[in-house]
Amino acid sequence: MNSLTMLYEGRNLISEKPVVVIDIGRAYTKCGFAGESAPRCIIPSEFLCKSTGASKKVFDYETRDQLYQNFVEFGHILFFKYLLVTPKDRKVVIVESLLNPSLERDTLAQVLFSYYELSSVCMVPSHMVSLYTLAVPTALVLDIGYKEAVLIPVVENTPVLHAYQALALAGEAVELNLRKLLESQCKEEEQFYLKAKPLPNSTVEDIKVRGCFVTKLDRAQMIQASVKEPSVSAPTPPPDLPYPLGGDRSITIPGTSRELAYEVLFELDNDLMSIATMILDAILKCPLDTRVSLAENILLIGGTSMALGLKSRLQQELLDLLVTPQYIKKLALKKFCFHNPPAKENYVAWLGGAIMGATNSIVKRSVTREDYSKVPKIPDWADLSFNCNDGVKRG
Ligand SMILES: Nc1ncnc2c1ncn2[C@@H]1O[C@H](COP(=O)(O)OP(=O)(O)OP(=O)(O)O)[C@@H](O)[C@H]1O
Ligand SMILES: [Mg+2]
Repeated sequence: MNSLTMLYEGRNLISEKPVVVIDIGRAYTKCGFAGESAPRCIIPSEFLCKSTGASKKVFDYETRDQLYQNFVEFGHILFFKYLLVTPKDRKVVIVESLLNPSLERDTLAQVLFSYYELSSVCMVPSHMVSLYTLAVPTALVLDIGYKEAVLIPVVENTPVLHAYQALALAGEAVELNLRKLLESQCKEEEQFYLKAKPLPNSTVEDIKVRGCFVTKLDRAQMIQASVKEPSVSAPTPPPDLPYPLGGDRSITIPGTSRELAYEVLFELDNDLMSIATMILDAILKCPLDTRVSLAENILLIGGTSMALGLKSRLQQELLDLLVTPQYIKKLALKKFCFHNPPAKENYVAWLGGAIMGATNSIVKRSVTREDYSKVPKIPDWADLSFNCNDGVKRG
């Protein structure tokens, strides 16, 4: 190759517009460019509503038109405030949950093609692309984000959809629990104040992230026993935490609230489900020969899985559940192993999308604006007429 050809090749690479990668979560949106190791921004999924002047969540909608408008407004923030690129004729990778309602993915596709005139859109399932960051074909992927904990096992790069599990046990549930604990456990004068003027959601979230932790299983069991049986003494609680609220106002976060906030994720609900039972139930629904490798390849993603102590508690819970009558005769597993992804858990799925966006797969799996103008629909990932191994679109 002579130097002139190399120069032109290089120019081509430079002039090729970088692929945009977006993961719009219920709480936070991760946004950046393919081939990069981290998103350019992680911002709340909300925008300032022009009519009310108040902040509005992207997924706060009643009709399709409202959702369309929300995506348009939020797209402006992403493209023009954070990424600083023109969206026209650009390729985009959207990282989405396989359980997303069709209304949301169809409306997003409509906004991206008709309003922003992107050249192609590739919607990739978050659980599956998260494995690209590890280069393993099989893992049990549990996403504990804001609204829901969603688990989908992936075997040989194929999501095992019938084994999926979803529960409303994630960041929002922990915050609600923490709010209740604070209202009942703070000092009396502070309780009165908290009831009269509830803390803003962002403050509760900050207390949760910086002040709370997931306790060990034996301590949790001792606390539960002491609640049921007053003669049993509870373990010594961790220290209280003074928390400034701005101005001269502050509250003291009781040690017990700090320790108990995350317990809601592990308590069995009315259907005897928790995030630990989700893992065992999903493994039970998978073929026998995949169970050991799934148990030894657990990947936790989503911001809530970054909570201090969550992985080791989940490990203890799983081993403890294995010997209960519910599972002892059905599952012959000995250990559970967790992966350490090469990114913070809250943007592992984004990183998977960014890796995929930098490969040729994006050309094979994208829907172009031309395709979309003929059939205005984004095919499901599970649609074999579109998503076949050789990457050729059929039908
Ligand atoms: N270091 C941390 N420790 C504990 N929780 C955290 C931490 N960082 C973020 N979170 C929590 O993670 C949640 C957001 O996670 P994530 O960004 O994965 O959610 P999302 O993708 O917006 O939601 P969903 O996947 O449900 O649509 C928030 O509730 C946030 O408070
Ligand atoms: Mg998410």
